[in-house]
Amino acid sequence: MTPLLDAAERLGAEELAALQLERLRRTLRHAYDRVGFYRDAFDRAGLRPEDCRSLADLARFPFTGKEDLRDNYPFGMFAVDRREVRRIHASSGTTGRPTVVGYTQRDLDTWAEVVARSIRAAGGRAGDRVHVAYGYGLFTGGLGAHYGAERLGCTVIPASGGMTARQVGLIQDFRPEIIMVTPSYMLTLLDEFERQGVDPRTTSLRVGIFGAEPWTEEMRREIEERFAIDAVDIYGLSEVMGPGVSQECVETKDGPHIWEDHFYPEVVDPVTGEVLPDGEEGELVFTSLTKEAMPVIRYRTRDLTRLLPGTARPFRRMARITGRTDDLMIVRGVNLFPTQIEEIVLRTPGVAPHFQLRLERAGRLDALTVRVEARAGASGEERAAAGRAIGAAVKDGVGVSVAVEVVDPLTLERSAGKSRRVVDLRTDGAAGRGGPAVTG
Ligand code: DLL
Repeated sequence: MTPLLDAAERLGAEELAALQLERLRRTLRHAYDRVGFYRDAFDRAGLRPEDCRSLADLARFPFTGKEDLRDNYPFGMFAVDRREVRRIHASSGTTGRPTVVGYTQRDLDTWAEVVARSIRAAGGRAGDRVHVAYGYGLFTGGLGAHYGAERLGCTVIPASGGMTARQVGLIQDFRPEIIMVTPSYMLTLLDEFERQGVDPRTTSLRVGIFGAEPWTEEMRREIEERFAIDAVDIYGLSEVMGPGVSQECVETKDGPHIWEDHFYPEVVDPVTGEVLPDGEEGELVFTSLTKEAMPVIRYRTRDLTRLLPGTARPFRRMARITGRTDDLMIVRGVNLFPTQIEEIVLRTPGVAPHFQLRLERAGRLDALTVRVEARAGASGEERAAAGRAIGAAVKDGVGVSVAVEVVDPLTLERSAGKSRRVVDLRTDGAAGRGGPAVTG
């Protein structure tokens, strides 16, 4: 029988802090001794690993960014002999070289452990069947979910992404209790259930573990209602590990708990880099505490969130990610994230939860068009009303005028993994500032 909480999930605050400090000091030493990049960066800052005497001292150490991983492509950030590297993953991004990450056997064990813990927090138990529809391959989603589910003692159905009609068939025949998939691909599956005339509320699914892209409370409600399941948030990134850096507990659904015994979080001002107190929104930064093959020191995720006190677990939580610094669109001087549009679209009657944002340049100004699908059967009048309502809500809530096009059902591109929300048609220097990275 799997215990409901493992030892780390029962640590008191002081024990946790002591464990973190010990692991942090060991990680700084390992990085300094084995990775030229970190040695140079610490030397430039005039710091030695042993200068970290408290968790707060970490703030004196330099940041690491995605560009540093790219500059050291492919294996320059590895801290172990190449024979010790058991697996490699990579994320593509939009430009240039991919970011490469490596794992020792012990890293793979840790990863399986934190994903097993995540699935358990989501309500999964040994013996459950888990349908994994995250992509398998260099992307960390599929294999990360896979080994975690096995570690928990579940039966894995390694469906990977794509072949949507077959996925629906597998779910009906194999009767999984749990599905792990991006929220946008879950909506693609929803369409397919309906196309096949199967009521999605009647499946065996009980829990969905959704992540790899930003999503909203409105999307949670939509998915929970349409499938009659619990929908919880899983977060992670390849540079830090993959899925399972943090996980929302099904009993509270109040944001992912960070598995702080392995990943130490900070939130910093994205512009000045100053560490912000818990509760304030900024850029999430992680330092790995146990990784061997590729330790990361103060890795800037570009994800925007807040750190919150623990509830269902002693570890701190993170608020749902509002967006990435590189998803930020600036439309006529107004800052806007795709999630803000998602919230509005999902509470508007007459439209489906499928939308796309088109950024164009109209004269010297940026123009944003929200293209959203009508719900099947919506009348012309309902469609027009929905378009007006969305335009008004964006103007009121975000403070910018946008055009809204309500298009026919099933006409927008569907996601088979991470969704592409923004189509940036601007051709001059402004392009690229607004287009989010598409990975996975
Ligand atoms: O997306 C790992 C993952 C796979 C997480 C499956 C969860 C489930 P990358 O491809 O490196 O790794 O992309 C990481 O995706 O920095 C966030 O911007 C975004 N992201 C991941 N999970 C969430 C989430 C995987 N729950 C990047 N909410 C991260 C919002 C998320 N954004």
